[in-house]
Amino acid sequence: MPEYVKLIYGEKTYELPIVVGSEGEKAIDISTLRQTTGLITLDPGFGNTGSCVSSITFMNGEKGILRYRGIPVEQLAEHSIFTETTYLLINGVLPTRKQLNAFSILLNDNSLIHEDMQSFFQSFPRASHPMGILSSMVTALRSFYPEIKIFEEEINLTVTRLLSKIRTLAAMSYKISRGHKVVYPRPDLSYGANFLNMMFDNPVKPYQIDEDLVKALNVFWILHADHEQNCSTSTVRMVGSGRVNLYAAISAGVAALWGPLHGGANQAVIEMLTKIREEDGGNVNRAVERAKDKNDPFRLMGFGHRVYKTYDPRARIMKRTCDLVLEKLNITDPLLDIAKNLEAVVLKDSYFIEHNLYPNVDFYSGIVLRALGIPTNMFTVMFAIGRLPGWIAQWKESVDDPDWRLSRPRQIYAGPPSLNYVPVDERQ
Ligand code: CMC
Repeated sequence: MPEYVKLIYGEKTYELPIVVGSEGEKAIDISTLRQTTGLITLDPGFGNTGSCVSSITFMNGEKGILRYRGIPVEQLAEHSIFTETTYLLINGVLPTRKQLNAFSILLNDNSLIHEDMQSFFQSFPRASHPMGILSSMVTALRSFYPEIKIFEEEINLTVTRLLSKIRTLAAMSYKISRGHKVVYPRPDLSYGANFLNMMFDNPVKPYQIDEDLVKALNVFWILHADHEQNCSTSTVRMVGSGRVNLYAAISAGVAALWGPLHGGANQAVIEMLTKIREEDGGNVNRAVERAKDKNDPFRLMGFGHRVYKTYDPRARIMKRTCDLVLEKLNITDPLLDIAKNLEAVVLKDSYFIEHNLYPNVDFYSGIVLRALGIPTNMFTVMFAIGRLPGWIAQWKESVDDPDWRLSRPRQIYAGPPSLNYVPVDERQ
């Protein structure tokens, strides 16, 4: 029995249908609202707006649930590898052994970067942020790997190229930024091992691959692989809705992820913890008080989430991974002690309890990345590599949707009424 909500406006009553998702979430379908009533909805930040119907990721922010294609992220983090989760997100089902092997071979076959692209890296000023470089390089891929005329083949090849080359681009940008010779991908290494090898191998000290660290990297990427309609994914869908090529849509996603309220938070967390250490001797109280002060724009980085109003399930896994990595490497990180102390204080503080502010995925991820040797300014690039399968899956879903339309929100205009142009010499 279809459900409706009644909207009474003026003399009339309108019935708006309710759409029900497979987990019972409900939405009011307002697609005919303006046409029938002349009204639009207003929802800054889109906190109450569903932009699509999607079968990829399910989140329940109140219960702390995250599933990709129905499978809990906890199970994937424990048992899967990043390439398998990537296949799952993009194709909708887990691959068979044969499919996974074929996918890995395809990724290997497409892992090299056109040699001419190396000169692009050399031309960026040394202080450029790696996210700016990555966004530009992803767009540039289009010029080096131009269109094929068969749409399906074009998509599949572009998807594989992006997944494989983004990892090579990231490692290459790191090597070039240090003035070192680039390390090429090796066909005998897994996706994660290859990345670490391209980052850290050098002629003086060959990189020793440690499978536990590769596992930690896989967990990091799996936890970031998709998060339904977040800022960067919505950007990819929106830019893609103009029917731009996939490289351009992904490049826009990279740019959106860069912001400190979104993917840039992992870098901001480490910077915040470092400041607490250097300026407050590791005492977290000043940071906590500043975060609660409404006259101070400071926020605790790594806390709070638009959807999760409980502990972010990814943060729990990341915290465990953090302990495992530090134990494995037999290192201590003073920032981890500060982070744990900060979390303990925050979880007992009435301001954070009342505002439902808990650690999010970015809170512990920076410490894991630091332990792996990733420089702080590359943290968000690591997030981007992880989020790429989600962006692609979401873009593909929107392309395959028969009701795919150009994204074009409306607004309520609050500027001046109609005015006449005044010639420059007559202006007061
Ligand atoms: N520290 C202190 N107060 C906070 C924080 C924080 N980290 N986050 C939210 N608040 C307060 C905020 O001041 C507001 O208080 P009040 O209602 O009294 O004015 C209330 O909580 C709601 O905040 P909001 O900004 O309206 O909530 P939002 O849903 O728009 O913000 C957020 C979500 C993630 C942008 C925000 O929590 C934040 O800025 N967190 C820090 C940055 C961060 O860690 N971002 C990573 C998010 S997870 C990775 C990802 O998915 O990208």
